[in-house]
Amino acid sequence: MIKPSHVEIDIRIGRLGDRDLLIKLEQQACGDTAWPNQSIGDSVHQPNVFILFAEVAGVDERTQSPDLKQPSGFLVWRRIVDEAEILTLGVTMPFRQIGVATKLLRAFEEQALSNHLTKALLEVNAGNTGALALYRAIGYDQIGRRKHYYRDGEDALTMIKTLIG
Ligand SMILES: CC(C)(COP(=O)(O)OP(=O)(O)OC[C@H]1O[C@@H](n2cnc3c(N)ncnc32)[C@H](O)[C@@H]1OP(=O)(O)O)[C@@H](O)C(=O)NCCC(=O)NCCS
Repeated sequence: MIKPSHVEIDIRIGRLGDRDLLIKLEQQACGDTAWPNQSIGDSVHQPNVFILFAEVAGVDERTQSPDLKQPSGFLVWRRIVDEAEILTLGVTMPFRQIGVATKLLRAFEEQALSNHLTKALLEVNAGNTGALALYRAIGYDQIGRRKHYYRDGEDALTMIKTLIG
């Protein structure tokens, strides 16, 4: 189990060459709920779509120096007129619950604000208790429910957060 105090989490902006990395991380993090046909990879080419990656380095307890960074998570969002919509977010298993998604969401908010967007939206599977707890903890409020929206028959919850710089 990785301890939060022993890691450094860096966020970087995705590039065109990150297509394969994005597909790989999405498969690892989302499994059966990954977008069909590796279509997440197309995000790197789409206008008004932004990608963030998290990279985690372990920190040697004795020397306090970080080791090699490993890609561990991603967040894909798009700008729709004056709103920022999170399309997907995932963190690979060994790096969960050490704050990676929180850091990605904070970086997303900064990026949205720097694009003059003050409203963030997302949809989440009502049965995804981990993601729901994360979004609530970070200040998202539920504004809607789409019945039986997902392949597994679960509802989608629509959530919103007003971003303040
Ligand atoms: C949901 C997900 C992105 C969370 O990533 P993470 O890096 O582990 O989240 P964080 O460490 O930043 O968690 C922050 C807070 O969210 C909540 N949280 C996160 N995962 C949780 C879980 N499995 N159960 C309960 N609460 C959870 C907790 O309040 C947590 O704070 P704490 O660790 O101090 O208790 C990750 O579990 C994941 O990739 N799941 C599969 C894909 C997915 O569901 N994506 C979201 C829908 S698109």
